[in-house]
Amino acid sequence: MLAGKRILIIIGGGIAAYKVLDVIRRLKERGAEVRAILTRSAKEFVTPMTVGALSGEKVFSELFDPTEEQDIGHIVLSRDTDLILVAPATANLMARMANGIADELATASLLAAAAPIIICPAMNQRMWAHPATQRNAARLAADGIRFIGPAEGRMAERGEAGVGRLSEPMEIVAGVEAFFAEAEQPKALAGRHVLVTSGPTIEPIDPVRFITNRSSGKQGHAVAAAAARAGARVTLVSGPVSIPDPPGVSVVRVETAREMFEAVFAALPADIAVMAAAVSDWRPSEVAGEKIKKVAGGPPPLSFIENPDILATLGHTAQRPAIVVGFAAETTNVEANAARKLAAKGADYIVANDVSPQGGVFGGDRNSVRILSASGVEVWPTLAKDEVADRLIGMIAERLG
Ligand code: CTP
Repeated sequence: MLAGKRILIIIGGGIAAYKVLDVIRRLKERGAEVRAILTRSAKEFVTPMTVGALSGEKVFSELFDPTEEQDIGHIVLSRDTDLILVAPATANLMARMANGIADELATASLLAAAAPIIICPAMNQRMWAHPATQRNAARLAADGIRFIGPAEGRMAERGEAGVGRLSEPMEIVAGVEAFFAEAEQPKALAGRHVLVTSGPTIEPIDPVRFITNRSSGKQGHAVAAAAARAGARVTLVSGPVSIPDPPGVSVVRVETAREMFEAVFAALPADIAVMAAAVSDWRPSEVAGEKIKKVAGGPPPLSFIENPDILATLGHTAQRPAIVVGFAAETTNVEANAARKLAAKGADYIVANDVSPQGGVFGGDRNSVRILSASGVEVWPTLAKDEVADRLIGMIAERLG
């Protein structure tokens, strides 16, 4: 599987760097072409000589080596490759990657990379658990970087143990093989256009006030990311959220339900529509041009008019996507209410979730859903929102054939 694959290994300066020598050997045994870049501090742990002997290639390290830049250059080094593997990814190297710092050849190559990147973190368990490292890890994941490990076990420091060890060389090799296996799988939604709505809408009352719905956008964004992973071209129409854009997705930002409606119809045609946004059903019938002042006599009366129903309109339009999926956020009679929406909105599926306050669905990372369709109700176990998204996309892809 790895025969002829070009892998660039970036070796960070950590005590676990010696294990990467074994990774190089095993990747080579499997037919991969391996080149290596050492960070400056990696040279304190392994020598370019050893790495070069194992990889059978020249080893790179300095950004301003005139011969290297002429021969190959850091841009070419990171472009001319199928995969970049960073191991060990120290806390410091992860921090530099997360912030786009290009202060040496290794980090400049990562910033210039066009190839997919897998990192194998390795550090003391306290450094891994530190909020700064966790923040950097989340950022890197949001940038589309994959992780192998870290594993749990004893640390180099005597008497210390926890999560932070470099994964074993064979696990890293297995992770690399799994990456290529997945990359070469025919993508279930290749050539399809998937339209997703996510987040809340906000409906202004005056220049400073608005009404809105509770929604973090996490589930909708996860669906968009899953569709992109499945090879689809994805348009994500999102209300205001504070989470990052999913990788590989084109995002249209809107605020009001009417803007969302316009953006959805402007994005057609689509093969699949997943309407996960928490759209405001109503908007204030009048938007004051100036801030409404607090006056004697109490708060001003507010009256509302109904917003267009994006899902219902889409479900009944001539341009209806082949598959239309709606969400139903309910606090009572979840299944009965969702079944009503399935019919009323002309959807193929309704993903129903119980959003009563004790469930922790809002803003949380997990979701318990039921899937309603013409063929009945499927109850899914409580899953991470990413897993719900993957399953949903898998189900849709299967139905689409
Ligand atoms: N939806 C929409 N446009 C609206 C309202 C809702 O596209 N104006 C979509 C949501 O994105 C979701 C589904 O319709 O996919 C269900 O939304 P929900 O608010 O739960 O249903 P409503 O029809 O508004 O019913 P109710 O508020 O009575 O529960």
